[in-house]
Amino acid sequence: MEQRFVAKNALPLKDSFTTRWQAPSNIALVKYWGKTTPQLPKNASLSFTLSNAVTQTQVEFAPLENPSKSVSFTILFEGEKKPSFRPKLETFFANILPYQPFLTHYQLAITSHNTFPHSSGIASSASSMAALAACLVDLEAQLSSLTEEDKINKISFLARLGSGSACRSTQGPMMAWGTHTAIANASDLWAVPVSDIHPVFTDYCDTILLIDKGQKKVSSTLGHKLMHQHPYAEQRFAKANAHLSELLPILQQGNLEVFISIVEKEALHLHAMMMTSDPYFILMQPNTLSVINNIWAFRKETSIPVCFTLDAGANVHVLYPNEFDAQLKQFIEGELLQYCENRQCVHDKVGTGIKKY
Ligand code: DP6
Repeated sequence: MEQRFVAKNALPLKDSFTTRWQAPSNIALVKYWGKTTPQLPKNASLSFTLSNAVTQTQVEFAPLENPSKSVSFTILFEGEKKPSFRPKLETFFANILPYQPFLTHYQLAITSHNTFPHSSGIASSASSMAALAACLVDLEAQLSSLTEEDKINKISFLARLGSGSACRSTQGPMMAWGTHTAIANASDLWAVPVSDIHPVFTDYCDTILLIDKGQKKVSSTLGHKLMHQHPYAEQRFAKANAHLSELLPILQQGNLEVFISIVEKEALHLHAMMMTSDPYFILMQPNTLSVINNIWAFRKETSIPVCFTLDAGANVHVLYPNEFDAQLKQFIEGELLQYCENRQCVHDKVGTGIKKY
């Protein structure tokens, strides 16, 4: 139990309080894959915060006459009641209740939608948990005095208890999560911004190629669990931390050649863990590999520093500096969209994190 995050004042408000926050998705450069209870990462991770792929969430907190035992809530996602969302939210509220016990004094009406294409297959748990956590901390700030630093750390802390990677969606353009010898203020409990970065990374582009929009065959939750008895788990955790050590000076210098090699290795190491789990599984599709081969050929031919990364799915994130935007859009349109479901992609770039809307 982290005492510093336990809300001090449990007194309910007399009137309803409504707040709206949006949070972006994020893409990990050094991947989080493997955790212990409660949502503590086995290695440090680092991500670009995105800007276009956001979840917007409104919560109306209506005071209850008699407090309930657990958190009472309704959820409307893109205008529809989503019973399938309830279990994850119930677990989230049970996890955070010790830190926000005042929530039992309210009926929560949650209304949420994504700005990225509906059912695009882009994992939205990071953006949705971060947006919801921001609403919850906004209520807490009405009840007790919190500094700006307390607020942003608590949002990240609560978001982590909903989905690990969500804790990195709060600020930008780059966030680190997990204790690491080279990042003095890093924590396993919340994510912190990595501020000392070369200007090339402050407007980096990420085009997300939607290779397969279907439901993933193996969830991230199960994938994390399979790291418990994984034969290469300890080597993987050490390697991820070593990649982060290598990447930090590169982020300051803007050395894109080394940046690319670390980022692509991380993506392939993540998928190598999946392929060597027991039971083993593959989330990449033939089109994922076609895209990767095309990116490598294009990079060789043009010397444009474009690279790829992958999350826990078949989709490919194409990463490139903003100055090559025009050439990349042309390449993506001409060569890569043929590998996407319905030729769909999402053009995004790095951003600054949560905000009120
Ligand atoms: C491959 O954050 O989705 O995207 O904590 O169980 O919700 P839970 O897992 P989740 O895992 C993210 C895995 C990843 C890598 C990353 O974002 O670092």
